[in-house]
Amino acid sequence: MATNRGIAYIKPGIVEVQNIAFPELALGDRKCHHGVILKIVSTNICGSDQHMVRGRTTAPEGLILGHEITGLVLEKGRDVEYLEVGDLVSVPFNIACGRCRNCKEQQTGICLNVNDARPGSAYGYVDMGGWIGGQAEYVMVPYADFNLLKFPNKDQAMEKIRDLTLLSDILPTGYHGAVTAGVKPGMVVYVAGAGPVGLACAASCHLLGAAVVIVGDMIPERLAQARSFGCETVDLRKDATLGEQIEQIVGIPEVDCTVDCVGFEAKGHGHGSDTEQPATVLNAAMEVTRAGGGIGIPGLYVTGDPGGIDDNAKVGNLSIRIGLGWAKSHHFHTGQCPVMTYNRDLMQAILYDKIKIADAVNVQVISLDEGPNGYKDFDHGAAKKYVIDPHGMIPA
Ligand SMILES: NC(=O)c1ccc[n+]([C@@H]2O[C@H](COP(=O)([O-])OP(=O)(O)OC[C@H]3O[C@@H](n4cnc5c(N)ncnc54)[C@H](O)[C@@H]3O)[C@@H](O)[C@H]2O)c1
Ligand SMILES: [Zn+2]
Ligand SMILES: [Zn+2]
Repeated sequence: MATNRGIAYIKPGIVEVQNIAFPELALGDRKCHHGVILKIVSTNICGSDQHMVRGRTTAPEGLILGHEITGLVLEKGRDVEYLEVGDLVSVPFNIACGRCRNCKEQQTGICLNVNDARPGSAYGYVDMGGWIGGQAEYVMVPYADFNLLKFPNKDQAMEKIRDLTLLSDILPTGYHGAVTAGVKPGMVVYVAGAGPVGLACAASCHLLGAAVVIVGDMIPERLAQARSFGCETVDLRKDATLGEQIEQIVGIPEVDCTVDCVGFEAKGHGHGSDTEQPATVLNAAMEVTRAGGGIGIPGLYVTGDPGGIDDNAKVGNLSIRIGLGWAKSHHFHTGQCPVMTYNRDLMQAILYDKIKIADAVNVQVISLDEGPNGYKDFDHGAAKKYVIDPHGMIPA
């Protein structure tokens, strides 16, 4: 019998590596002819996983985590036509059928056929359809021809695997945040949050030609990481308002676009910077974004948060000053990133050295057994993106 190991969510603050079932090409008691089984080459820890591990969602005990997967095709179902055993592929974190109305419109983050409870799904995530996660040695991927992005040259891809592993989520997500905020050449952009998504967004803003990218956070190491590739930074622990800090950099207290790479666990600014204020980033974005500007919101907001600061926050009801955004004709874009819209083009940008994304987010490769420690360090604000290498295949 083939074996498998994966990282399970146990309870708030605790994850552990467990022996788990080897994946099957099956959907319940039905054969999954359109699926493949992957031997996982790399699988990343995400800020989205941390929301679950901090106990801020209704994730069940025993959930196998992991939605940022890259792997080799080990076995394929009868109906998989365009992939071969041995192909090296990137897995978009959104699971999509390729057949529904939303998939046909490239809205693969809200596929209608992969989650009984609501549109949209992901591997190893609460409320996302119960799919088994890929912080593991092996995983099953359905609708493989539609979902998977094959790397054209395996050897070349393994050399750049630290960068390419980021195509499953955070690079497309950061890029999507920038695109939906309307970032174009010459623009001044404020990126809230210097976690991996914020840093990936900042690097994407550079790729899109932004003139000035200002990254805000309250963790000095993460701000230093943003400066390491040419961003300006604001330290939100300071007493000055965000607008005042922006004014010191660009001469006016205003930006062209803002991207929220923080989400519902946002902390306040200034004196409030050690307490949670879930609407802070959205309200600050409306304050500093110019009239007519855009606000991209890849940061996650939830419909159920047992740790919310009050009864409203517990159901995702936040105190947002929408009147201000309306008065300034802001446009907003929320939701999961439809990874497939961007991953092929961003792969080319990596392969042709147009973006150094592994350096920007400071990739750190660890083993599967080091995964639980990776979760702890990341939660403590390490300026790193942890990439798990379950089979020791990533070259040093
Ligand atoms: N939409 C999508 O498809 C998608 C995909 C991946 C991740 N996400 C979400 O993106 C968000 C960021 O992910 P990450 O991996 O970078 O997480 P992270 O937790 O590492 O980073 C969040 C950062 O925000 C900082 N922060 C807190 N309050 C702030 C404030 N008021 N202003 C500025 N910074 C503040 C924190 O100090 C932290 O460094 C998460 O909510 C994650 O769930 C969404
Ligand atoms: Zn992720
Ligand atoms: Zn679909």
